[in-house]
Amino acid sequence: MIEVQSLAQPGIRALRAYDPGHDLVALRRAAPQPLLELGSNENPYGASPQAVRAAIAALDSAHVYPDPLGGDLKRALAKQHGVDAARILLGNGSHELLMQFAQVFAGVGDEVVASQYGFAVYALAAQAAGAALQLAPALPRHHAMPRGHDLDALRAAITPRTRLVYLANPNNPTGTWYSAADFETFLADVPAQVLVVVDEAYAEFVDAPDYASALPLLAMHPNLIVTRTFSKAHALAGLRVGFAIAHPEIIAVLERVRESFNVNAPGLAAAEAALGDTAHLAAGVAGNRVQRQALAEALRARGLVASPSQTNFLLVEFGEATARIEAALLARGVILRPMGGYGLGDCLRITVGTADDNARLLAALDEVLV
Ligand SMILES: Cc1ncc(COP(=O)(O)O)c(C=O)c1O
Repeated sequence: MIEVQSLAQPGIRALRAYDPGHDLVALRRAAPQPLLELGSNENPYGASPQAVRAAIAALDSAHVYPDPLGGDLKRALAKQHGVDAARILLGNGSHELLMQFAQVFAGVGDEVVASQYGFAVYALAAQAAGAALQLAPALPRHHAMPRGHDLDALRAAITPRTRLVYLANPNNPTGTWYSAADFETFLADVPAQVLVVVDEAYAEFVDAPDYASALPLLAMHPNLIVTRTFSKAHALAGLRVGFAIAHPEIIAVLERVRESFNVNAPGLAAAEAALGDTAHLAAGVAGNRVQRQALAEALRARGLVASPSQTNFLLVEFGEATARIEAALLARGVILRPMGGYGLGDCLRITVGTADDNARLLAALDEVLV
């Protein structure tokens, strides 16, 4: 038998697949009571009923291919963001797009820059493309934005070989963000031939006054790519729809490798309907804001350190007891996300749930914290 692994491209041979956390389907089947799933930053308020109805209606045409152009959704997004539809690329989730950027713009001999504690997909994307990943150190633990992106360090990591920089604002798993002013200074200093990807998967949840989306900077910076997703605030994670906005020429190049029918018909229909249901979006974002603060305060009252967060999750330090607490909560049907893969083995990431979810989490925590 030949060694099949050795047939893979060198970058892929060295790769470890994305870790999606626990096998939730198996856990759900085995659980005596409904699980409290707070490990994947999903939206506990559920999708817009209008979006769900649109997805179901799209199933009447399940026998035909979806619109390969995603024209209706692109036009709706173009209107919402005040950009030309030629600036928009749709993805099967933003994960697909993040991978595609490295596939198209980085290769063997090139470098890709990301931050320590940045979202795991950036490293996967770089490695899969055969490029070398340069990790810039994050801000130190004792800082206003503990473990957040250090824009000066990211700038310093850019070399003549750099093709791409990935940043998330706010970031997963730290929940931290950087200010609009700091990002503008950073971007102005990045060489024009280096593409900067700003991943705004959690942008809708932000209320920090110093934050701003990078979208308005697109007009001035043709090397900027901004990604968004319908998985988080729009609560459509199961339908897999994300998008990028960038210079039309960047989009045109990316289109060459896009799988023709990458976004399915229920996803296209649901995403368009979700955009129209602004009341549902606002209610979920408001609920998250209240519960995020309440949960952070409740955790701090128990002596736990939670990083400042502008997302729908909190990164919480449990120290040496982390593995024991995670296992004890799991035994009580409460799923959190271990962070060992990020080099944060002393932390767990907790999705902010509804008031009831958070009450159940805290009750379970009180049983296991000694
Ligand atoms: C920072 C960040 N970017 C992108 C994604 C990918 O989201 P999706 O592929 O569902 O659009 C996630 C998912 O958790 C994320 O946390």
